[in-house]
Amino acid sequence: MTPQQKTGAGGGAVARSKVTIKTINRMYKNGEPISMMTAQDYPSGMMVDRAGIDMCLVGDSLAMVALGYDSTNPLTVEEMLHHCRAVARGCKSPFLVVDLPYGSFEVSPEEAVRASMRFMKEANAEAIKLEGGQEMAATIERITRIGVPVVGHIGLTPQRQSALGGFRVQGKTAKQAERLLQDALAVQEAGAFCIVLEAIPPQIAAYITRRLSVPTIGIGAGAQCSGQVLVQNDALGLFDRFVPK
Ligand code: KIV
Repeated sequence: MTPQQKTGAGGGAVARSKVTIKTINRMYKNGEPISMMTAQDYPSGMMVDRAGIDMCLVGDSLAMVALGYDSTNPLTVEEMLHHCRAVARGCKSPFLVVDLPYGSFEVSPEEAVRASMRFMKEANAEAIKLEGGQEMAATIERITRIGVPVVGHIGLTPQRQSALGGFRVQGKTAKQAERLLQDALAVQEAGAFCIVLEAIPPQIAAYITRRLSVPTIGIGAGAQCSGQVLVQNDALGLFDRFVPK
């Protein structure tokens, strides 16, 4: 809960001013922990709003937790637009971030810009998130240059789980850890305003966090990140095909 949030007589959240990218930057500078939670529809978006969470992520994990796909890869831009619009109707105060689905941004920066603009224009997104490190730097630069805020995502990148051999912790060897640091620096340099670190040993995530000048948002990456993100269905125990660590 950020300082601008008010509480009612019973302690429940009653009103809150809009969280913007400036709020996130200010929280980071003040060392305040940043909270992010996923939502996939109108009611789950309302829950994120009412809980006083800072950022709401329409994550492509909804492919698995809400649509029952085996992975995030089959999700289309049209499906994601539909979900993002619904979340946006229920989630007013948190800063709204949406994942670019697999296949919508990798081929060229132009395709990535086109997909990003659709989410801003047609689904009320306020930022996009995309998976990848150094190889995505040029794309992140193009998207941020036209005024769309970008959240990076490195470590376990579920869209590449086939190449990674499953949902596995990344950065366990010194070489992999060094590569993760270079990925984080490249994504920051390209203009990302914050970076999700997924399934990374806590010491490595803490080191990367210290080396960056933008916030890190961890999931399975220890307590030393600038903030934490949770998949709402996991947090509420609503997804039981497997239990993330
Ligand atoms: O899709 C998602 O829910 C995510 C989180 C795991 C960060 O990307």
